[in-house]
Amino acid sequence: MMMDGELAGFAIPRLGMGTMALAIEGRPDRDTAIRTIHAGLDAGVRYLDTAWSYYLPSEPGTGTAKDLGYGEKLVRDALISWNGPRDEVLVATKTGYRRTMEVPAFVAPVSDSPESDTQGRDSEGCSRRPGEERQHLQAAGSQYGWMADSRPETMIRDAKESALHLGVDTLDLLYSHGPDPAVPYEDQCGALKQLLDEGVIKYAGISRVNNEQIDLARGIIGSGLVAVQNQFSPSHPDPEHTMEHCAELGLAFVCWSPLGGFLDTFDQSAYDPFRTVAAQRGCSYQRVVLAWELTRYERLFTIPSARNPQEINDSFAATQLQLTQEELAMLPC
Ligand SMILES: NC(=O)c1ccc[n+]([C@@H]2O[C@H](COP(=O)([O-])OP(=O)(O)OC[C@H]3O[C@@H](n4cnc5c(N)ncnc54)[C@H](OP(=O)(O)O)[C@@H]3O)[C@@H](O)[C@H]2O)c1
Repeated sequence: MMMDGELAGFAIPRLGMGTMALAIEGRPDRDTAIRTIHAGLDAGVRYLDTAWSYYLPSEPGTGTAKDLGYGEKLVRDALISWNGPRDEVLVATKTGYRRTMEVPAFVAPVSDSPESDTQGRDSEGCSRRPGEERQHLQAAGSQYGWMADSRPETMIRDAKESALHLGVDTLDLLYSHGPDPAVPYEDQCGALKQLLDEGVIKYAGISRVNNEQIDLARGIIGSGLVAVQNQFSPSHPDPEHTMEHCAELGLAFVCWSPLGGFLDTFDQSAYDPFRTVAAQRGCSYQRVVLAWELTRYERLFTIPSARNPQEINDSFAATQLQLTQEELAMLPC
């Protein structure tokens, strides 16, 4: 079983590290977060996943979110202070989402809002037109939410800010974070194409998409589109078979929340077969889950979060775990 793969010009292990849990609610202190990223890199992680929207929003009315850029700057600082080969590390980020407080407090026109900053954003870093309604995603376990704002001008501006946050001239890989019901999907893809053409990004990806959107994106972005990032885990098994579609098109499939996530509740019984195998192996069931995911598709990358060095060390060991045919027969096919 090949545990390495090619993504955005990097030949790297197919187990990377999601850094969301180090940057949003429930995050550890910054020093622990840096040590956790260093532990992942020292173990062999060569793909770090972040997003423009990995920060905590401010209370509405308290001014521009002070925390904007937290997650991307954390990744930048971890790489600067790491003693290893920085140029071997693929850093992927996402554009088109922002954080919100629980209450959809977006009623004041931007121009009238006392907390708007000079770029027309409110305290959540949100730019919008007066009276605009936008989609809110609320995790059950959080007082904060997420909001899609994937207008092309917002995506392009935020992508350029991501490069500044990450301290790079060109982003290795930029995903559109997810479809925005208020924006035609072709316009989001057009923004990614423009960013490619202008050299702001080297490669593009898309996230939270169905097969129709994958085809649409491929038609607009062409060979610059290299990855689809969708939810996949034992509790979220990709009912639309987007992984198979990626295989048909030769695209990488990157699974988000590969251990089920940490904010929403999910069906724990889906992990029981993995617990059985783990008990026989004497390892964590999370390691078995990640090893199983790597067997699903030779261009699948999995990006578990970790909130401390022990977790990412444990997870990365999945790259050394060869599941036997007997064990695979006990797990979902
Ligand atoms: N594209 C998108 O829209 C999207 C959405 C969500 C996530 N993502 C990406 O996917 C990445 C991972 O997703 P996620 O953060 O939702 O959740 P996840 O990777 O499924 O992990 C959930 C939690 O499992 C625990 N854990 C991790 N490794 C472990 C181990 N070896 N043993 C025991 N427990 C372990 C950690 O929680 P504790 O510290 O509490 O133990 C971790 O926060 C994110 O960092 C982000 O980069 C993308």
